[in-house]
Amino acid sequence: MKKSSIYDCSVIELPVNHREKGNLTVVENSLDIPFDVRRVYYLYDVPSGESRGGHAHKELRQLIVAASGSFDVVLYDGKVKRTITLNRPFCGLVVVSGIWRELDDFSSGSVCLVLASHEYNERDYIREYQEFLEWKNI
Ligand code: TYD
Repeated sequence: MKKSSIYDCSVIELPVNHREKGNLTVVENSLDIPFDVRRVYYLYDVPSGESRGGHAHKELRQLIVAASGSFDVVLYDGKVKRTITLNRPFCGLVVVSGIWRELDDFSSGSVCLVLASHEYNERDYIREYQEFLEWKNI
């Protein structure tokens, strides 16, 4: 997805089962998100002022959810930059492959839940910004 743009990324609303005793959100493969989930991980206890990410993926697609608290996701496709604030556990940001991303402004106690389309593979990462621009042919 070398040609992907940030406009291929979108915030989707996930189903919520509202109950007096609390809410429940389910994410099912292919039904609620446009890929099958092969891996789940979560970021937490991110110190104030720290940022995460700072890379792109060649193939990996992700759904990023603020399971608790809030943070910003800065997306960059080599041409256009867009910042999306996630702060609701029933909203997920679909990030397609070929997008540079940075996560920052984590609120205290926030949890960043990531549902990923593939198992961990370091070879899928582009960690150097210049390499990313060259890969995108920019
Ligand atoms: P990284 O994806 O660079 O984290 P972030 O983008 O949040 O800063 O991963 C940080 C480290 O954790 C890196 O050494 C690779 C390792 N890691 C795994 O071993 N498995 C995984 O599924 C993930 C996401 C990371």
